Amino acid sequence: MVEVYIHDNDNSVDFREPHNSGKKVDLAALDKIGVIYKHITKQEDVDALAKERDYKNHDIVNINIDTFKGDSDAMLNQLKIFYQEHLHEDEEIRYCMDGEGYFDVRLDDDWVRCKVAPGDLLILPAGIYHRFTLTNTNHIKALRLFKDEPKWQAYNRPNADDLPIRKEYLSSI
Ligand code: LAC
Ligand code: NI
Repeated sequence: MVEVYIHDNDNSVDFREPHNSGKKVDLAALDKIGVIYKHITKQEDVDALAKERDYKNHDIVNINIDTFKGDSDAMLNQLKIFYQEHLHEDEEIRYCMDGEGYFDVRLDDDWVRCKVAPGDLLILPAGIYHRFTLTNTNHIKALRLFKDEPKWQAYNRPNADDLPIRKEYLSSI
């Protein structure tokens, strides 16, 4: 299940490739930067987590070539947007139901790459810089949790450096 490592930063290779530098990162290191990674096999356990954190709503997204009606340029453009370094004012909770994906989270000058596969749930704290991509299988089905209205506005780096949520995050770690 959980595969977490330092990204090799080799930009000459497609971002959907693994980019595994060979340096592993353990869950304790993720915990230090406020990232929670769990493997959950039962939907009722996802529901329990949602309840515990006061999440009332969810939706399910499929990202693959069919989502873009076969238009691979449109898909690549959307993936490039997801891959821009950004943060949100709310936590980002994703539960992988099918397929796979990479969430990269910022740790100083490195990216920590978290590969999610079915059953993996990731909680990114508000204010953490991150980015997302599909893997080279080009497909994920994921559940997204949100409290009331979805607040998925992405604030890109470096403009987001001055946001209160960024400062709050930095002082929390
Ligand atoms: C999101 C992922 C792409 O903001 O980080 O939905
Ligand atoms: Ni995001």
